[in-house]
Amino acid sequence: MKLSLTGKTAVVCGASQGLGLASARELALLGASCILLARNEKLLETAVASLDTSQGQQHNYYVADFSEPAKVKATIQAIVDDQFVHILVNNSGGPSSGPILAAEGGAFLKAFEMHVVCNQLLTQAVVPGMKATGYGRIIQIISTSVKVPIKNLGVSNTIRAAVANWAKTMANELAPFGITVNNVLPGAMTTDRLKSLFKATGEARGVPEETIAEEWRQEIPMQRFGDPSEFGAAVAFLASPAAGYITGINLPVDGGKTPSL
Ligand SMILES: NC(=O)c1ccc[n+]([C@@H]2O[C@H](COP(=O)([O-])OP(=O)(O)OC[C@H]3O[C@@H](n4cnc5c(N)ncnc54)[C@H](OP(=O)(O)O)[C@@H]3O)[C@@H](O)[C@H]2O)c1
Repeated sequence: MKLSLTGKTAVVCGASQGLGLASARELALLGASCILLARNEKLLETAVASLDTSQGQQHNYYVADFSEPAKVKATIQAIVDDQFVHILVNNSGGPSSGPILAAEGGAFLKAFEMHVVCNQLLTQAVVPGMKATGYGRIIQIISTSVKVPIKNLGVSNTIRAAVANWAKTMANELAPFGITVNNVLPGAMTTDRLKSLFKATGEARGVPEETIAEEWRQEIPMQRFGDPSEFGAAVAFLASPAAGYITGINLPVDGGKTPSL
């Protein structure tokens, strides 16, 4: 099975920590050079320094705020003016939690810009290079809410569905060029996002966050939360040559939690 990404360059978004960084780590272990995007420069510096370089990979970062799509567009343009990008991992911070009825209209617009508009601008910028080099992998980090909406995540559930449909449409358009477009759906992986959801849900119900964590753990058939590296491994596989005939799918990485096929 050909997994090597030696000589490939990956742009990984939302990669200063959490699942984006975990994905970059696994991509680097397969030999890819990674360009990390996020807002926190200090964390980005540390993240870049943590990536494998044993195969001569060269990693870099750009500070980018996905709530400012015009600036994200300028950033990705600067990147592709300089080099070919073979792998794009679309990812950003999750929308605030809460019931959908209580959500302000602006929250939907903000999340749509961060998750759909930015994906679109990034993809438009990297696809010409992918066509030119004959190698392209576009991977979205979304959520299992694409399959089954999650309680108390009204805005998120709505926007995740939009991203998944955007990706499937893009997959069909890019398939003739051998460029694959796939979504990886985290269940409950141990990152800051998960901790913030325990806290917000606990506050909403008036119970300690530890109680929420335990309730959620028991809902997972594997009876444990996922390690970010287990998520990154799925992203790295989809980015590899071995996954060349897989496109347009939603791949849950959730310990069996999603109660649907
Ligand atoms: N962890 C889970 O169990 C889980 C489950 C379902 C879905 N998800 C979703 O998967 C995605 C990644 O989750 P995670 O657990 O890795 O979250 P995380 O630990 O909170 O990390 C989020 C990453 O996105 C970046 N980011 C946040 N807002 C940004 C912005 N405006 N512009 C650019 N970058 C931004 C953050 O970096 P900076 O702060 O430096 O910008 C960070 O690198 C999120 O959309 C999350 O909702 C996660």
